[in-house]
Formats: sequence, structure tokens, C-alpha cells
Amino acid sequence: MARLAVIDGVVYAPSDAKISVYDRGFLYGDSVFETLRTYGGRAFAVDEHLDRLERSLAALAIALPASRAVLTAELMDALLRADNTESYARLMVTRGQGALGLDPALAHAATRVLLVEPLTMPPLASYLRGIRVRCIRTVRASDAAHSAKLANYLASALALRDARQAGADEALVVDRAGLVIEGTTSNVFAVVGDRLVTPAVEAGILDGITRHHVIATARELGMDVELASLAPAALAESREVFITSTLREILPVSEVDGHRVGAGARGPVTEALHRAFRRRVGAPWVFGGDP
Ligand SMILES: Cc1ncc(COP(=O)(O)O)c(C=O)c1O
Repeated sequence: MARLAVIDGVVYAPSDAKISVYDRGFLYGDSVFETLRTYGGRAFAVDEHLDRLERSLAALAIALPASRAVLTAELMDALLRADNTESYARLMVTRGQGALGLDPALAHAATRVLLVEPLTMPPLASYLRGIRVRCIRTVRASDAAHSAKLANYLASALALRDARQAGADEALVVDRAGLVIEGTTSNVFAVVGDRLVTPAVEAGILDGITRHHVIATARELGMDVELASLAPAALAESREVFITSTLREILPVSEVDGHRVGAGARGPVTEALHRAFRRRVGAPWVFGGDP
């Protein structure tokens, strides 16, 4: 199992991987990123991640630092070198280095950094029992950048800290209108009646790649999917709630703001969707219940 870092195409051991203190990613959070994972050792949904990376870069008017072919080849090479059973990969692009000063024109060449680590997922108990969430009102840097996957997660990190201090596992982000729009690093879904409800991209969410696959999976299973945002109280009264992300797939929520959701454990719709999602990505079922 290995961790490694690739900076502008050069491979480093993690302890040797260094970025200039004049890099605008460090100075101003002037950067975007993608989080990918492998299934069976192969990177999943690379094109979808590169499409989103390009959209994030376009929102910040940063040029793609290398062609998609080069970025893909660097990713494949790093995954091969790391040789993990399953890997997590974080691809970051900053506007690059420049003299101190806020003006983006001070930087001339974007910096790209790829980190590869062994993949770790939440414990099985979280998939069986679900996690507890707190709904926290906050405004994020990404709210001003048209859903770009900005590196600045400060507001979400503070919301997560508040949620943890309140005894929960995760925070859900509440917007100015008082509606739950997503998790700190995940999208949110609710089962309401026999429909699956999840906020629309226009609500100001990150257009999650797992979210896309879950919506497609639900439609394949014959479910109606409604794009809408719910208030915390309505979310708590849903039959089932779950969050989705590349690293966690489909993770049940058993408690919203101290109120039990459904039976207080993974519900049947969440489990059916997760099983179908695993079939879609070609991975075995390892999340408990019947084999
Ligand atoms: C704010 C936010 N929403 C949603 C997601 C889930 O996106 P994906 O399914 O592409 O991992 C993430 C992932 O990091 C995120 O940071």
C-alpha cells in the first residue's frame, strides 16, 4: 500500500512533495480539485471528473494545466505505481505562483498536484445503522463560484466541527432560504412517499458524480426522482435519508437534528439503491444484510 504525490508530472514520496508558499492555492484558496476512486483498481468515472474539473477551472478562468490525455496518463501511472487494492486520488489545480497580491493576473502558469492514497471507507456499522446529522446554516465560498469544486472548504469544515460538537457525525448545509441543500462533502437524498427527492443543481450544490449515478439507478429501478430541497423538519420526517459521495457511495442517515429518521437504521430503499449502485460500478456487495 502506498501514498504518493505527483506535482506538475513529477512523482514524489509524500514527505518530499512541496509547493511554494507563493502558490495562490495556499495564499488565497485560488484552486479547484476533484476526488476520484478506483473500483477493481481502475479509476472510476474519469471522464465525468475531468469534465467537472474543466467546468470548475472555467468558472475561475484558469486554463487546463495539461491536456486531458496527459492528466489521465498521470493518474493511471500514479495508480499503477501506488498499487493499492483500491485507491483514493485527489487531483488539484491551483492558479499557480506569483507575486503577493490578489490580482489573478499575477500568476502565469497553473500548478497541478495529484495525491494517491489507499482508499478507506466508513465502517460497516455506519452503513447498517446510519449516521447522525445536524443541519447547519452557512454560506460557502463555492456559493459565489457557480458550483465549482473550489478548494476552500472552510465554512463546511466549521459546520462539520459544530455538528460534531453537537454529537452528530456529519453536517448538512442549510442555505439562506432555510433549506437543506447538501452535505459538507456529499449530496443529500430523501425518500418521501415513493419518490426520491434531492436538491436541483440550481440550489447551489456541487453536481455530484455519485448523485448522477444514483439518480440514474433509481430511474432504472422504476422510482420517480424529484429535484427539490427540503427544510430540516421535512427531511427528518422523510421515510429514509442518505448522503452520496465518491468516497462513501450511499451512506444512510438515521438521525436529523436529534430526530430519528424512519426506523433509525438503513432503510429498504437506501439498501436497494446501494445494491444496484454496486452492480452498476461492477463491485461486490460488502455492506451487510443478505449476501
Ligand atoms: C460539497 C460537495 N457536494 C457533493 C459531493 C459529492 O460529489 P461526488 O459524488 O462527485 O464525490 C462532494 C464531494 O466531495 C462535495 O464536496
